[in-house]
Amino acid sequence: YIPVIAIDGPTASGKGTVAQLVATQLGFHYLDSGALYRLTALSALRNAVALNDEQALAKLAETLQCSFTNGDIFLAGENVTLAIRAEEVGNAASKIAALPALRQALVALQLRFRTAPGLIADGRDMGTVIFPDADLKVFLTASPEARAQRRYKQLIDKGFSANMQDLLKDLNERDARDANRAVAPLKPAEGAYLLDTSNLTVHQAVEQVLGWYAD
Ligand code: CDP
Repeated sequence: YIPVIAIDGPTASGKGTVAQLVATQLGFHYLDSGALYRLTALSALRNAVALNDEQALAKLAETLQCSFTNGDIFLAGENVTLAIRAEEVGNAASKIAALPALRQALVALQLRFRTAPGLIADGRDMGTVIFPDADLKVFLTASPEARAQRRYKQLIDKGFSANMQDLLKDLNERDARDANRAVAPLKPAEGAYLLDTSNLTVHQAVEQVLGWYAD
């Protein structure tokens, strides 16, 4: 039996950081499912595939040549770890994530990440759709201001330019798209523990998740 911890939540809620640290602590594998949507989006932008061409996008997703090695992400052999973090790619990912055929095309790939000794899966629908039998489900949130601050810092640290006004607008648009799409809308899974990290340090959030898992 291979345990899974599902950590879901809205954009820039700090899931990625918390999930990776929990994975390191437990010696588990880590699935950054958002990266798969970003990889598909980057591939679409580069190959001039329209962001509403559902069948073509599903095909791209199904044949995605990606690999994850030591924290680096590769697309067809090219290191795109930084390229997929661009805000343009994130926005495109958010749009194509609403398309059912594309989401379906990524299911099998996500399930394959569940290998021994265990998996921390980070995303929007880990607990609701991909791993409904997860051993622990966490829904991680933070205030829009805290999230915009985090995204700002993330982008600046990576050498991208950013401004708070645009980020808050992007954030609201992404929240609306994530919550309102017909397939796998963002919502806490049944039985999920809610964790508001607005006023928590990363360390406190990690300890909380580990504590719930140990119980
Ligand atoms: O940067 P942000 O936190 O918004 O995104 P991400 O976690 O890197 O994921 C990129 C996009 O993929 C998000 O805007 C989500 O709409 C979408 N996504 C999804 O629909 N389902 C997932 N399991 C993960 C991401």
